[in-house]
Amino acid sequence: MSTQFKQAEHKIPGPIEVADEVLYANAHPSMSHVSPEFIPVFGECIKMLRETLLTKAGQPFLIAGSGTLGWDQVASNLVEPGEEALVLHSGYFGDSFADCLEAYGAKVTQIKAPIGAAVTEAQIEKALKRSKYKVLTFTHVDTSTGVLSNAKMIAQVSRRVSPDTLIILDGVCAVASEEIRFDDWDIDVVISATQKGLGTPPGLSVVLASQYALNVLENRKTPVTSYYASWKRWLPIMKAYEFGSAAYFATPPVNLIYAFHVSLKSITHGGISLEERFHLHREASKRVKQAAFDLGLKQVPLDLDYSANGMTALYYPEGLDADDIIPLLMKKDIVIAGGLHKDIKGKYFRIGHMGLTAVDGSRGDLDKIIQGLQETIREAKAAKGVQ
Ligand SMILES: Cc1ncc(COP(=O)(O)O)c(C=O)c1O
Repeated sequence: MSTQFKQAEHKIPGPIEVADEVLYANAHPSMSHVSPEFIPVFGECIKMLRETLLTKAGQPFLIAGSGTLGWDQVASNLVEPGEEALVLHSGYFGDSFADCLEAYGAKVTQIKAPIGAAVTEAQIEKALKRSKYKVLTFTHVDTSTGVLSNAKMIAQVSRRVSPDTLIILDGVCAVASEEIRFDDWDIDVVISATQKGLGTPPGLSVVLASQYALNVLENRKTPVTSYYASWKRWLPIMKAYEFGSAAYFATPPVNLIYAFHVSLKSITHGGISLEERFHLHREASKRVKQAAFDLGLKQVPLDLDYSANGMTALYYPEGLDADDIIPLLMKKDIVIAGGLHKDIKGKYFRIGHMGLTAVDGSRGDLDKIIQGLQETIREAKAAKGVQ
């Protein structure tokens, strides 16, 4: 049945392409969240998330909400009011995570990298030697700048200098498109959401917590500062579904979990391995970035080694802006996003090339994006008389 379903023609990448099978699974007949048919679907999602993030003992939390709810989970479960948090800032999403931590009473210190850069090892080491932080957070890919932080390095320096500090990776724009080795790199929490590399419509907060993070939660002196986001309430629910029975705290987004199941299955047991998936993202990224370079477009990330593999952030050519480029691309059925970082908002745009666009070459998405960009820049320059 599912193979007969084809989604309507649409603009790409939109900002990420969702497979027909995933959308079709979202149209599953309405089911009770305690029905025997649904229990294994939820349970398998929990197990497949572990596989996706390369962990044996990490504890997934799949809770209705968006990526932002992951910040609330970290802030309310792992940081007690008055405790210190270190936020590594490589763009807009660092500020938002910091705001969220402060909303729950954390004392936040931010280390801000210049636009297009990531915080350096020396800066992290210095900060961790100066104060004791309960958590260190960083944005693996900051969606506003396309900067990729070196997760392995950050975790290493943090563990070495301050072994107790919890290492929190914001992977909303990274999970399933950037390499993340939860166990090998000794990460404590990954927060994500379904709507980017995980290839599913938005609506599910996707979190993975280490056993160490759960111990920290267990040893809190004060109560968890959220009701809905409380891991103490969600942990028995996740365990119940994983081990084959239903339990209730708040209703899960049943249809979305059916959809997520299909996408996770293709990520973990589809035609390509995780390693190959990461490789294809790197290759796709190289193609888009090379094409942009050939067109004379400058990237927001200052260093290619620190640029995301699932997206590309590019400054408009001198003399052109969003109004010259975005509508022309739209006419070619290509969706891009404008700028988000407040200091350079009107000066750059962002192209998504994660998930199906990167891994399924037969779709031709990358060719279409690159060709569309080449034609658009040429046409826009000609229309404005820009060289
Ligand atoms: C890096 C990053 N973190 C957090 C978020 C917040 O996620 P959401 O919009 O799903 O709440 C986003 C959203 O794009 C993001 O890109």
